[in-house]
Amino acid sequence: MDKEDFIPFNKPPYFKDTFSDAIQAAYNYGKFSGDGLNTEKCVEFFKNRYGYDRSLLTPSCTASLEMAALLLDLAPGDEVIVPSFTFVSSANAFALRGVNLVFADSEKDQPNVSVSDILAKVTKKTKAIVIVHYAGVPVDVHSILEQTKHSIPIVEDCAHAIDSVDPRTGDYVGKAGCVATFSFHETKNVGIGEGGLLVVNNNNLWRKAQITREKGTNRTDFAAGKVAFYTWIDLGSSYLMSDIDAAMLWSALQHIDIIQDARLAVWNEYNRNLISPSNYIYKKPSPSLRANAHMYYLEFKDPDMRSEFCKAMKEKNVLVATHYIPLDISPFIIEQRIKNLLPAGEPCTQSIAWSKSLVRLPLFADLSAQKLRRVISAVNEFAASKGSIHLVPAKEDHWEAIRLLRNENSDCFTHDKEISREEHWNFMRKHWNTYRIAVQQEAFVGFIGHVNRDVRLATSTKSKGKGVAQFMWKSFEQEVGDLDVKVLLNNQRCLSFFFKLGYVPDTKALKEGQNPVVLRKGGHIVL
Ligand SMILES: Cc1ncc(COP(=O)(O)O)c(C=O)c1O
Repeated sequence: MDKEDFIPFNKPPYFKDTFSDAIQAAYNYGKFSGDGLNTEKCVEFFKNRYGYDRSLLTPSCTASLEMAALLLDLAPGDEVIVPSFTFVSSANAFALRGVNLVFADSEKDQPNVSVSDILAKVTKKTKAIVIVHYAGVPVDVHSILEQTKHSIPIVEDCAHAIDSVDPRTGDYVGKAGCVATFSFHETKNVGIGEGGLLVVNNNNLWRKAQITREKGTNRTDFAAGKVAFYTWIDLGSSYLMSDIDAAMLWSALQHIDIIQDARLAVWNEYNRNLISPSNYIYKKPSPSLRANAHMYYLEFKDPDMRSEFCKAMKEKNVLVATHYIPLDISPFIIEQRIKNLLPAGEPCTQSIAWSKSLVRLPLFADLSAQKLRRVISAVNEFAASKGSIHLVPAKEDHWEAIRLLRNENSDCFTHDKEISREEHWNFMRKHWNTYRIAVQQEAFVGFIGHVNRDVRLATSTKSKGKGVAQFMWKSFEQEVGDLDVKVLLNNQRCLSFFFKLGYVPDTKALKEGQNPVVLRKGGHIVL
């Protein structure tokens, strides 16, 4: 496979110049271990940009979650509510303390954990609630706090949620729980390979947090010159990020607006240009779920169709990814339940549904416009091949087409000015690469546009009977030669348009009930 041709699911941002400056600065400062110069800069950044007044850099979000479990003094027999639809670390960090995990289901309309299911599962034994802001979409932590009368500590797993703002409060996520944990794993918006952050919102936990991450010692006091030597005073482990990793993090944080703008733009382009299949092969996310553009996912109705989609994308050198296997039906939890080490629980059915339906598309700051178009075309092509061309209202489509043509940065024609055939054909020659035609029901006079390798011929009621569309199509044929046309059988106007021009459907395809069906020039129809 040509490496250039391959579109990965993710590519971490890399800022060579700021990274080498940061490494050099650490070297000059004389410290590569934790709490060095770059660590200081990152911590200051989190304070200034997000208002995270007390934070510690850690080796990973997993490490931050393990710290959270230690800070909360959890003991065997305690119950901790965790989402079913999450990464293993959100639960494993607490399982390590011997607690009973209680799994909360997802919402129906999005994969985030359901607040009402969490509340329904609270008992007297509940000692902590872990929530995950899935895809950066904020969970209503304040509502859980209010309804539990602030009696149960909440851990916010913000692995996906850097730079995410909760529209309910207008503030960044990660400030409502007693602690919040972030990930800088390379799949995240600010990805440095491996890395994490622990934000401590509860003042009473701050000193313990400093001890926990320094192997259970008061080494932080020692480093601050407060004590003559340091010693073991509590449980802990090594939870510091080295200053080399912090250099990488600092180099990325300086570009966070560039990263975020690029990701948001990719998310918007997906949502604007992907077909919404009318027969619901998949559903696109609602724009209200854009959040920090951590993820763009499609929700497939049928798991087999999803597998077919993943395969089709792979064949086009596009890597897409499904997501979590529900934790409550994982082999580990099933075994714990069989051995009676964990009480039985009802399966989290929504979480299972999300696990079977969701596919994530490539989304990273470095995704070029050309590669993004390739992903969009590949998805649209798949949707179209399943008979699901969604004919958007012609008016909207027309302007969308023009917007895209303008984006091509070419000598494109637009409908606002006199259409020059010369200009038009030059454009089409340059961009011609299509196999799918949609004829709009209602549109503007004579318009053939190229939208993501999808040629659209629009005619107007005004031009009805004047043969403008036929004329345009014939000229078009002269330019590009005969071509196969895929049409929806239920689009009568479209069918009769092509029948008149001598296109006929493939009899075999018709018998097989294919829709859309391919029409070819010549031959005869056997209906
Ligand atoms: C929700 C969630 N929590 C925690 C983690 C663990 O993050 P890390 O790899 O930084 O340990 C992940 C990783 O993807 C995650 O998705």
